[in-house]
Formats: sequence, structure tokens, C-alpha cells
Amino acid sequence: MGDDKKHIIQTRVGVTKRYFCLWLACAVLLGGLTAVPAPVLADGHIKKGEKVYRKCRACHGTKAGEKKIGPTLFGIYGRKAAAVEGFKYSEAMRASGIVWDDEALDKFLHKPRKFLKGTKMSFGGVRKAGERADLIAYLKTLK
Ligand code: HEC
Repeated sequence: MGDDKKHIIQTRVGVTKRYFCLWLACAVLLGGLTAVPAPVLADGHIKKGEKVYRKCRACHGTKAGEKKIGPTLFGIYGRKAAAVEGFKYSEAMRASGIVWDDEALDKFLHKPRKFLKGTKMSFGGVRKAGERADLIAYLKTLK
């Protein structure tokens, strides 16, 4: 092999290597851009929800067995309504057959007394859908 040919091959390898590096850099950059914001957003929701929860804190504890005017909301997500032992629920709540999933929580927390006539939860409701979504994200962490 003459020196000229060797030189050409080496430059070719050099060029492909450089393109590969560029491609890699782009992939990492793009991957970073798409992968990073999602968990940040989810965290934001929970944090915001914790703030919305201030409206509930006077009446609801977040730990197992915590007694206030209302039942503890520990483990509330996915549970059947009126399941905290020793808490005197209204007849309406006991007979409701509700399971506290996203939809039920969203409707109840929007307008408690309209959603469940006869509930003894004296709370006007959370007007903004976004705030309710944040709040529900926070409630899911209480387990
Ligand atoms: C003034 C006190 C008060 C406030 C404020 C309040 N609640 Fe309640 N909550 C109650 C009472 C009392 C009950 C029981 C209702 C019944 O038996 O009808 C209840 C019941 C509930 C239940 C059903 C519990 C179960 O075990 O089935 C959920 C869920 C709930 N509240 C969420 C909230 C959230 C979230 C907030 C804040 C946005 C809130 N509440 C604000 C008093 C309150």
C-alpha cells in the first residue's frame, strides 16, 4: 500500500468518527431534553398539591390513625369510601359505594355536597381543575 492510499483511508475513518461523535452528541442532547422535564413536572404537581392540601389540613390528617374532624386521608387513594375504622361517617358516605379513584376524587372535591348529598364534610370545594389534579397527585403519595 502506498503512503497516499493510507492517508486517504485514515482521513475517511477520521471523518466517520467525527460524524459519529456529532450524532452521539445530538442523541444525548435530545434524549436529555425529552427525558428530563417529565419527572420534574410530576414532582411539581405533588408539591403544588401539598400546598392545595392546606385547605384540608384542619380537618384531615395524613398519617394512619390520625383523628381530626374528618377521617385520616392516609391510604385514601384507591380505597372504598367510609373505610377508616372508628370514624363516624355520614349515612350518605357509608352507603355511597364510592371507590376513591381519580374520577371520584375529582368530582367530590369539586363540589362535595353536590356530588354526595348528605355528606357531613362542610367544605365548599376546590374550584380549579388544575388544583384538583395537583391535590390528587399529592393524595396518592399518602401511603
Ligand atoms: C371542615 C372540615 C373538612 C375540610 C376542610 C375537608 N374535609 Fe374532607 N371530610 C370531612 C368530614 C367530616 C368527612 C366525612 C364525611 C362524611 O362522612 O360524609 C370528610 C371526608 C372526606 C373524604 C372521604 C374519606 C373516606 O374515608 O371515605 C375525602 C376523600 C376527603 N374528605 C377529602 C378532603 C380533601 C382533599 C379536602 C381538602 C380539599 C377536604 N376533604 C377538606 C371534613 C373536612
